[in-house]
Amino acid sequence: MMSSPFPRSILQVAPRVVLSLLLAACSRGPGGTGASDVRLPPAGPPGDPAIPARVAPVFPAGWRLPAGQPATFAPQVMAVSNSPAASAAATEIMRAGGNAVDAAVALGFALAVTWPEAGNIGGGGYSVVRLADGRVAAIDYREIAPLAATRDMYLDANGKLTDKSVYGHLASGVPGAVAGLSALLERYGTMPLSRVMQPAIRLAREGFVVDTALAGSIARARGMVTRFQRSTPYFPNGQPLAAGARLVQPDLARTLEAIAQYGAAGFYKGWVADSLVAEMRRGEGIITHEDLSRYTPVWRAPIRTNFREYTLLSMPPSSSGGVTTAESLNILEQYPALPSYGSTRWFHLVGSAYQRAFIDRNAKLADPAFVPVPLAQLTSKTYARQLQGTISETRATPTRELEPRMQALPREPEHTTHYSVVDAQGNAVATTTTLNNSWGSGVWVRGAGFMLNDEMDDFAAQPGTPNMFGLVQGEQNAIQPGKRMLSAMSPTIVLDRDNQVLLVVGAAGGPTIITGTSQVILNVIQHRMTLMDAMRAPRIHHQALPDSLTFEAGGIAPPVLDSLRSMGHAMRQLRALVNVNAIMRVKGGWEGVPEPRRSGGAVGY
Ligand code: DON
Repeated sequence: MMSSPFPRSILQVAPRVVLSLLLAACSRGPGGTGASDVRLPPAGPPGDPAIPARVAPVFPAGWRLPAGQPATFAPQVMAVSNSPAASAAATEIMRAGGNAVDAAVALGFALAVTWPEAGNIGGGGYSVVRLADGRVAAIDYREIAPLAATRDMYLDANGKLTDKSVYGHLASGVPGAVAGLSALLERYGTMPLSRVMQPAIRLAREGFVVDTALAGSIARARGMVTRFQRSTPYFPNGQPLAAGARLVQPDLARTLEAIAQYGAAGFYKGWVADSLVAEMRRGEGIITHEDLSRYTPVWRAPIRTNFREYTLLSMPPSSSGGVTTAESLNILEQYPALPSYGSTRWFHLVGSAYQRAFIDRNAKLADPAFVPVPLAQLTSKTYARQLQGTISETRATPTRELEPRMQALPREPEHTTHYSVVDAQGNAVATTTTLNNSWGSGVWVRGAGFMLNDEMDDFAAQPGTPNMFGLVQGEQNAIQPGKRMLSAMSPTIVLDRDNQVLLVVGAAGGPTIITGTSQVILNVIQHRMTLMDAMRAPRIHHQALPDSLTFEAGGIAPPVLDSLRSMGHAMRQLRALVNVNAIMRVKGGWEGVPEPRRSGGAVGY
């Protein structure tokens, strides 16, 4: 019997979780741009060969995000995230002379203050960097399984999967964000950590006014967070902070000051580490001082792939983001002419490409330090041609027909955030970090003031059984001490045919990160939409299992929906899919678009 009142599955869990991850979190109303110095793009001749003219898309009548809206424009620098205050921290640092890397690190720490449901120091993530001089880099600061972790640690005495990979102290991997952001700054930044962390420290110490988006998130997290501790700054005396209240986080400010003073050692050693380990001992947690002091981020070569004449730089394993995006786009590239956006054939081909790429993702990808990963094969055009050959023009292929070994075991009753930054020199940073669930494991480190992740659920805690996102993953992603759990995070930079940064993009939303990010890219490159239209366009998702094509309510015209059903697609409707934040180069500067399905801020000058 499970001791927890929370069921495991994302689909049956408290509405807070479901909504915050896939639906409501993507639909908190229109995004406030929070932009400063917003100007209209200069009117110029539509002749820049690197930026082909954009084409107005047609969305279904009644779709709630009509096309044709303007984006935030800035001539020099741009930062886009889910928090206007955190985006402003990035531009503050760039105004003070910092580059995009300085600004991205400032933004990351500021998000830990202003977006505590996902912005994090208690979790991990990935950054992809492209410098104006052409250098590229990727850094992996994904959490790792603690040394005391075991393959079956989340099974009960009867071999049944419990909810402990999702809720409580045992759910956390060893956090990587502080090590990763400080290593990124050290290698490619120009300012000291103590400088770039100033906006975050100020926001934590002096506080900021809670907006309706954060108030809603806090209210939804009440049961989960107050279950593990009675009082936090978000729930003073157990009561949720309301919109308009001031959120002051003195413990978090002290932690950030320790990091600013001592670098990553201020987190992984000393009193902050002591507080984290003490918190572990209060619950059933297993992270030790040794786990913390051994944590090291890994520099990796970005996945470099091309779609038509555009180059994509994205995250390699331990994230599946870059490989699965490359595989999906390579399959689509096999079609010399792709159908128009919104047609039956478009959704069929895109969904079928994702289905095939996810079969490989779920069975073959994992931490490359533990499992050989066939990167070259999975990202090759020859392989894509073979996979494209399995797509019928007239019917959906059942996943079990493509991969009979891939079976979901009977299902038990069953957060992330991306930011994009560019500077006036053309340096670009795409970063996605996560606590996994909104508000992570629900555990707040007493005395140190931050939420811990529940990233252990991204492992196949019981290979063959769906995780929180319904992903059915194999043995290669089973739990092992020191191993990174497979991620879907997809921070991506797209270069145009002249090798200039065109897009800086990525998303939150579990496996839908891959499909959401790549659809924005496809909308820009293939359908030549403006960035705003590309972001507002209705999205779909397919992850092989469950064997369904998910779509946004109102996003597919009824006759198209009927045709897709008659081809055999099991159509599954959600209110909203994915939380993307993106920047695109346009004539004379940059356009920034925070996710139109939720809140966020594009700030530039
Ligand atoms: O790394 C991953 O793929 C997941 N932990 C991401 C979770 C996520 O995006 C949830 N947020 N909306």
